Amino acid sequence: MSKFYELYFSPTGGTLASVKMFGPKIFGILGMEPVPVNLRTLVRDGGELPAFSAEDICLVSVPSFAGRVPLPAVNLLQQLKGNGARAILHVVYGNRAIDDTLLELRDIMDGAGFVCAAAAETVAEHSMFRQFGAGRPDAEDEAEMQEFAVKIAEVLQAELSGSLKVPGNNPYRERKPVSAIPEGGADCSGCGACAAECPVHAIPAENPKSVNRDLCFGCMRCVSVCPVSARAIPDAVREKMLPIMSQVCSGRKENRLYVERNH
Ligand SMILES: Cc1cc2nc3c(=O)[nH]c(=O)nc-3n(C[C@H](O)[C@H](O)[C@H](O)COP(=O)(O)O)c2cc1C
Repeated sequence: MSKFYELYFSPTGGTLASVKMFGPKIFGILGMEPVPVNLRTLVRDGGELPAFSAEDICLVSVPSFAGRVPLPAVNLLQQLKGNGARAILHVVYGNRAIDDTLLELRDIMDGAGFVCAAAAETVAEHSMFRQFGAGRPDAEDEAEMQEFAVKIAEVLQAELSGSLKVPGNNPYRERKPVSAIPEGGADCSGCGACAAECPVHAIPAENPKSVNRDLCFGCMRCVSVCPVSARAIPDAVREKMLPIMSQVCSGRKENRLYVERNH
């Protein structure tokens, strides 16, 4: 029997909020029940990956990090075996831009044996600076996702040949060392919630105020799970980034759907 998988990588919940809004609109039209697959916990804990077949449909949702697919998600997605299952690519971004994220995601999923049927980029709150994209996805996004879902359902009925056209450049944007690395502050009680939740085990349980800067990819999960809000990007780093972010994240950015193909 064919299955509708929702594969999502969501360190702070913005991607998941978009999936919860978008996914039901698609599987509702198709009359299918979703099978959620949390890629963040699979990255953190390991575990068995689903076995896909050509009848399956997968909504694959990742956030854009510096215009790319977050590296831990890349490493996991590359291990999937699509076996001809159809993929709906979904990049969630924080009101700046996705740059090469969709192109990279399409290339990964093509390479893993999926047939990429459609792609969408949608806006959520910026997980580093929540004033950008604040309150999104909202009712306007929801209405747009409904329109996207109708078109995606149509595409899923069609014979698909060639590759899906998505924006972006190859070579992709260079991955630079992460500069915004959260640290534990004076209020840190040492409870270890951040250490337990870090997707890449960058925070030692015995000293959660510290962080392994080589492992941290700046996803902000530790900031979002800290029960006493003691973890943050250092003030000096925030202050340096804010003027640039204010310029590039201003205004209301759009959601977009891609269904055209290269023949
Ligand atoms: C390290 C990092 C890099 C980011 N880079 C971008 C970016 O290039 N463009 C953008 O619009 N948003 C960017 N964002 C914002 C996220 O894409 C956005 O907030 C997303 O919803 C985060 O997903 P999550 O809440 O599921 O973790 C970045 C966030 C982080 C933490």
